[in-house]
Amino acid sequence: MTGPAQWSNHLWLTARLYEPLWRRRSVALMTRGAYTTERELRALPRRLALVPGTRVIDLGCSAGLYARELARAGLDVTAVDVSRAFLAEGERLARREGVSVRFERADVLDLPFADASFDAGVSGGSLNEFGDIARALREIARVLGAGAPLWLMYAARAEATPGRALQALLRPSGLRFPSPEQVDAWAAAAGLVAERSERRGPLVFAGYRRRARRRAR
Ligand SMILES: C[S@@+](CC[C@H](N)C(=O)[O-])C[C@H]1O[C@@H](n2cnc3c(N)ncnc32)[C@H](O)[C@@H]1O
Repeated sequence: MTGPAQWSNHLWLTARLYEPLWRRRSVALMTRGAYTTERELRALPRRLALVPGTRVIDLGCSAGLYARELARAGLDVTAVDVSRAFLAEGERLARREGVSVRFERADVLDLPFADASFDAGVSGGSLNEFGDIARALREIARVLGAGAPLWLMYAARAEATPGRALQALLRPSGLRFPSPEQVDAWAAAAGLVAERSERRGPLVFAGYRRRARRRAR
């Protein structure tokens, strides 16, 4: 199901304001200062143990916050999103920062890439918007090579009543708030092994690795 949260992603103004007004502050706001976007970005290449030239895909990239950071670290980055407005903003920011990112319009539920096209994947805050998360994880796993790391940041099902009430109000807007156990189970079914996960307030920062594919008999 899609809703206002997804529609608003197609607006030029949302694309322009999202990163400076919300994305760069949201992690600190939602974790009450326990985690920051700067820390999140610094940790990215290290967590994925990536070397220059690694082919990475940023899934639901918006303006490419992760994508641009990884391109700065010398990686070969493809960033996909369904919103043309966000992709245009990502291209504008990448140009301004002098980094090279391949921005492509694509739906995570049906990616236009061959199996095992990428050595790593990242997705910051987008899982909540994918609607059919189990299908998105299957599709992500398909385009990752055996052993490829996947890094996800998402807002999990709240543990306390006020948070649950807020999430229930946001649900009609098209957002989903799965429990970490549910995400791990969907990931496992897709062939992604959970490696480590850290919860800060409602946010989960989680690493997975693509299992080797079974040989066809
Ligand atoms: C919360 S924003 C993500 C922010 C971005 N990853 C970051 O770290 O700044 C969610 C993004 O996911 C995109 N999105 C939602 N559903 C999608 C889908 N099925 N396929 C690709 N992108 C999708 C939206 O257009 C939006 O840009």
